Amino acid sequence: MSVEMVRNSDERWVIHNPQGKYRVISTKNLVGNLWLEILQKYECRVEVCTDRGVLSNEEIVGAIGSKCDGVLGQLTEKWDDSLFNVLKRAGGKVFSNVAVGYDNVDVPAATKNGIVVGNTPGVLTEATAEMAVSLVYAAARRVVEADQFMRAGLYKIWLPDLFLGKLLTGKTVGIIGAGRIGSTVGLMLARGNKMNLIYYDKYQNKQFEAKLEAYREYLSHTGESTIEWRRADSMEEVIRDSDVLSLHPNLDKTTFHLMNSERLQMMKKDAMLINCARGPVVDEVALVEHCRENPQFYAGLDVFEDEPLMKPGLKDLPNVVVVPHIASATVWTRRGMSALAAMNVAAVINDLPPWGSPNVLSFVGESVEDVPPAGPSLINAKDLNYTGRSVAKL
Ligand code: DGY
Repeated sequence: MSVEMVRNSDERWVIHNPQGKYRVISTKNLVGNLWLEILQKYECRVEVCTDRGVLSNEEIVGAIGSKCDGVLGQLTEKWDDSLFNVLKRAGGKVFSNVAVGYDNVDVPAATKNGIVVGNTPGVLTEATAEMAVSLVYAAARRVVEADQFMRAGLYKIWLPDLFLGKLLTGKTVGIIGAGRIGSTVGLMLARGNKMNLIYYDKYQNKQFEAKLEAYREYLSHTGESTIEWRRADSMEEVIRDSDVLSLHPNLDKTTFHLMNSERLQMMKKDAMLINCARGPVVDEVALVEHCRENPQFYAGLDVFEDEPLMKPGLKDLPNVVVVPHIASATVWTRRGMSALAAMNVAAVINDLPPWGSPNVLSFVGESVEDVPPAGPSLINAKDLNYTGRSVAKL
């Protein structure tokens, strides 16, 4: 399906499907075409901002204008009460973050304004976990330092002690927050590198435990040395015992600076800290200090406290590997996130029901015709008593 496109008078905005009945804005251009095809199928005219900078709330208010049915927004924007109020007054019904995390969205304020909020879980689990594991490998084997050494022409002779790193096999990976992403990181390292595993989560993850147990049994059947795993009673137990500690909590008041100076001190001096969750989960100033004082300690970071900035000193530390919040950045994943966000918006505008299952893969197939008529992930649908009208064939 092709989507007709024209330019707005503000050169930064392009309009797809200009004759569409409902007006939807997207504060960034998204990935692939499926998201636009979905919105076109559900009769939306889609105005897309092609500016690659962060839009201010004033600019977003201007873009919402006097009539806007729904918005696809970004984690770099602060969706607060005033924005949701403007959206409500413009006749808006729905906002979808193009991200699984929504710490940038004041969901109670959206609910108060009658706006349904969507997010994009279930398609970025593996991609994010793969990035966490990439950071583990990069830090353990000093890939960035060694790459810089090569490019600087410093490789003159093979030496027995050149860039000695850390072996992961047989060490312990600690997971804080064993939801979809955390448990996938744990399984990748336990199965792939035969690491022992310890996790902390308020909720027991029985499926995760069953998979770890099955792997243990498989290893003992094949006569290989096996792995140990356990669910810890406290977060501190995980922090103390881990060689690799990977953080996967949601960011909220209870997890802000969860890794502070005191907890960093509890870690083994040669451990590794990985953060692919949200920057403020780690006190970054304390981390800089800790990495400076403990050269054998490594950190791998995808997220930062004051994104896009790094705290002073971080970029100068050889024992830190940094990437710019790209854990979910694979073509398939971002296309899927775009499609989920579009379907969240299209569903509410068209009064379609919430999907009601964590398995959202049917929303990211090849063709728009395969996409189910439902909102894949509507966070506050229950609070708003939003059920949509019944659809005969889901
Ligand atoms: C998210 O989705 O919350 C990530 O941070 C970006 O993929």
